[in-house]
Amino acid sequence: MIKRIAIFASGNGSNFQRIAGYFAGNADVEIAVLYSNHPEAYALTRAKNLGIPAVVFDRNQLYTAADILNDLQARKIDWIVLAGFLWLVPENILTAYRDHILNIHPALLPKHGGKGMYGMRVHEAVITAGDTESGITIHLVNEYYDEGLVIFQACCPVLPGDTAEDVAHKIHELEYAHFPRVIAEQLSKNNPAGNNSLQGYHESYF
Ligand code: GRF
Repeated sequence: MIKRIAIFASGNGSNFQRIAGYFAGNADVEIAVLYSNHPEAYALTRAKNLGIPAVVFDRNQLYTAADILNDLQARKIDWIVLAGFLWLVPENILTAYRDHILNIHPALLPKHGGKGMYGMRVHEAVITAGDTESGITIHLVNEYYDEGLVIFQACCPVLPGDTAEDVAHKIHELEYAHFPRVIAEQLSKNNPAGNNSLQGYHESYF
């Protein structure tokens, strides 16, 4: 049966576009909707250009009114992918989509994660720490920032003289190379939302 994916993005949406491109023409997977909490997000322009429905929402609709959970269910969404989405996922959605929500973080968790660690702040922290490598982490989402079960990591070198912008560029290349494929792998596991069968599953590819 076709798997219907919702993507949440607060900003640029380049990962969203890569994911949509990867699955375009795939009879088993549909990128069914983009959700954004930011009415000016460039991701919304990308959605329009791609012909993908988009929904803009505010805090009340996500956290109090259950509008977004209702909308997800009305659209028969099977999986949620966070691609540059900066808010915590509320309990009602976590419960309905247990082990079916993926996030990508632009560093090697558990380093450089948590509340407020997003975008260039992450890469600046990597440089400040003197790390000689960084990377990406794809993980299941739980009630804490960047703490769900790690599904996949890939790394890249941080060279002497690299700026945060240099690191950001390398990280985006890793994201584009791996995120769509890792999503496809998770979808193919075919476990229904709400069961816990993914607990304990952990692979890292370095
Ligand atoms: C990515 O670096 C991702 O790891 C992080 O937010 C960024 C989103 O970039 N969670 P984009 O909006 O997909 O260009």
